[in-house]
Amino acid sequence: MPSDYPKINVGLLGMGVVGSRLAKYLLEETTCSGPPFLSNLNLKSILINDSRKQRSFQPPSGILTNDPEEILQDPTISIVVELIGGEYPAIDFITRAINAGKHVVTANKEVIAKHGSVLSDLAQKAGVALKFEASVGGGIPAIGPLIHTLSANQILSIRAIINGTTNFILSKMANENMDFLSAVSEAQSLGFAEANPKNDLEGTDAAYKLAILASLAFHTFLDPSKIYREGIEGLEVKDFLYAHELGREIKLLAITKRLDGKTIEARVHPALLPITSPLSKIDGASNAIEINGDLVGSVIFSGPGAGATPTISAVLADIICIAETITQTNTQNSAKVFDYHKSYLQLIDVKPMVDLRTRYYLRLNVDDQGGVLAQIATVMGALDISIASVIQKDNDPESRTAELVITTHPATESSIQDAIKRLQSLESIKKFNCMIRLEEG
Ligand SMILES: NC(=O)c1ccc[n+]([C@@H]2O[C@H](COP(=O)([O-])OP(=O)(O)OC[C@H]3O[C@@H](n4cnc5c(N)ncnc54)[C@H](OP(=O)(O)O)[C@@H]3O)[C@@H](O)[C@H]2O)c1
Repeated sequence: MPSDYPKINVGLLGMGVVGSRLAKYLLEETTCSGPPFLSNLNLKSILINDSRKQRSFQPPSGILTNDPEEILQDPTISIVVELIGGEYPAIDFITRAINAGKHVVTANKEVIAKHGSVLSDLAQKAGVALKFEASVGGGIPAIGPLIHTLSANQILSIRAIINGTTNFILSKMANENMDFLSAVSEAQSLGFAEANPKNDLEGTDAAYKLAILASLAFHTFLDPSKIYREGIEGLEVKDFLYAHELGREIKLLAITKRLDGKTIEARVHPALLPITSPLSKIDGASNAIEINGDLVGSVIFSGPGAGATPTISAVLADIICIAETITQTNTQNSAKVFDYHKSYLQLIDVKPMVDLRTRYYLRLNVDDQGGVLAQIATVMGALDISIASVIQKDNDPESRTAELVITTHPATESSIQDAIKRLQSLESIKKFNCMIRLEEG
């Protein structure tokens, strides 16, 4: 990379886990023989919130600021990197940066999932880039492939493990028989879960990421609130033991499928996958994104879905892309419109969850006496649900109860929900523990 090109000034919003690593890389680790265009970047200003905070990386004096205007109103800054996270004030800062003619790189899944369509239009009008590779899957390539290398494909489906926190917890429960709360607290102590992991555990974080992937895959804007979501809190170690007996693993899956030209499925929930599925082998905090295209077939990207260094790999790739364009057009504010704006074109409906048709796993405690299975079969038969297998476990002579694990043949979600209600009203059903959907392939 020739060093006689003009320097490109960068403003960084946020210097937490990812921002600190990016700052250190840009200020101390770029070399002329390193990745192209990075040595021509000048990290001019970094916005922080708390100036008294002890930081693992201390940038040279004069770079840190508490005043966003020092970045947003600086006409010499061409690229703004937003690494604050959350919806506010990040969305306001991104909007203002774009309106000021600055290219924006962000890792913010919530902002892109909720406002990607509006921001994309805004960026197009301003002639600047809005890039967000790190918003899904940390360092794993997912956004770029959907926009570029898989663009000739009609995307048929995406199934993804895109929340490292929950995958870490599920792996602990599956591999070490660790109970849910202990697994959550181990994830927290190792830095894989936040102090308040609600968004992860309830599937909200995965739904934001799925909204971004589906919007790009189906050339639409999928509002994340339209995605059905169910978290992992209802799962017990027993479910993993039974899953293994059934030749399956339990994963929190984000799933989207093209049903016809106008309708898609979009859902996040725990799913029982065959043990032979590549997604079943994704353990710990890793992520994986399986994309099925009509031409390419099935491709899987897997690797570290979080962590400061893998995440800046994606952030830096976005910065390089912008820096390359600025450098080649030899102007600080390139008018080149990036192809991210091809997205968000079609109106697409999300199939209501009640119409989903799939197989189900049910775990319930029942009276340990003759005729109970017949009662259950009658309830399910009346709703057109056919039982595929029954495992009877954990007979308790004292309470005279037994645990039943039932799997069904394909049935509709509305009928299974109805069946659960009817089963719960039977006197012989002591407790309905859990329902998990089965996913094939
Ligand atoms: N961590 C990961 O592994 C990972 C992976 C993929 C994507 N991401 C995404 O990357 C982004 C950053 O994540 P992170 O883990 O680095 O977050 P973080 O550690 O919480 O850092 C957030 C930073 O934003 C600053 N900040 C917060 N509110 C602010 C405000 N009102 N004004 C100015 N600055 C403010 C904080 O300032 P102070 O330092 O002064 O408190 C802090 O430096 C998020 O969008 C996240 O989803 C993270």
